[in-house]
Amino acid sequence: MTADSTGSAAGAVAADEAALLEAIRQQPLPRHVAVIMDGNGRWAGLRGLPRVAGHREGVRAARSSVRTAGRLGIGYLTLYAFSSENWSRPAAEVSFLMRLLESSVEEELPELLDNNVRLRTLGDLATLDQGVRRSVERAVRATEANTGLTLQIALNYGGRLELVRAVRSIAADVARGTLTLEAIDEACIAGALDTAGVPDPDLLIRTSGEYRLSNFLLWQVAYTELLVLPILWPDFSPREFYGAVAEYQRRTRRFGGL
Ligand code: FPP
Repeated sequence: MTADSTGSAAGAVAADEAALLEAIRQQPLPRHVAVIMDGNGRWAGLRGLPRVAGHREGVRAARSSVRTAGRLGIGYLTLYAFSSENWSRPAAEVSFLMRLLESSVEEELPELLDNNVRLRTLGDLATLDQGVRRSVERAVRATEANTGLTLQIALNYGGRLELVRAVRSIAADVARGTLTLEAIDEACIAGALDTAGVPDPDLLIRTSGEYRLSNFLLWQVAYTELLVLPILWPDFSPREFYGAVAEYQRRTRRFGGL
């Protein structure tokens, strides 16, 4: 390929991306997008690289998705970074992921602050590595007054454990006499979850082609549009994000009605 034809091919791709962006801006955007970032290990394996190289690329794709969500004006982006089941991975991979999450949060904090992003976490931070916990809690505190994109990172998160914690806190209120059985309704349960105050996801994207929820946001996805993409997480580019939003906009949401 000549330099000239490479340039025009790149130009055509950029024009196509710009047209897609323009089109999705004409329709209502999802208010909340949740993502199961799957396929880092396979991405690395296909290139003969160690799995951790895939996780490093995964961080790059996560950073780019946060920027894209911010640019689009999406209100909430929730990323499944480490599940309560991920502890069963080899110790070296778990410890690499912990260090990677810690350094990523520290490195991204200035950009989150510059862009008015509010960071929140989902999951049980209490049993997390001290280092990750400290850097995440610091970033949550530093960004809590921000009013732009809310970025939720699920860390040591499992949907069933989240429900267990919620049931315990509701039961404790009943035992204390501050809540009656009759007052337990959907809003009460939603308010006891880690996502309290955050609207349910409109769109859940899962990369790498697996049709599974993997214990993610079990309560919150009752009426969420699900989109499984065949690509691996490190290949999730802004173009893929725009395409996912366009697919969401083509769906008719009925919420159980007609
Ligand atoms: C899935 O790939 C990804 C994870 C286990 C989570 C780690 C995610 C990142 C490092 C992305 C960065 C996120 C943030 C918020 C900084 P996999 O290992 O399950 O891949 P495989 O299914 O191909 O083995």
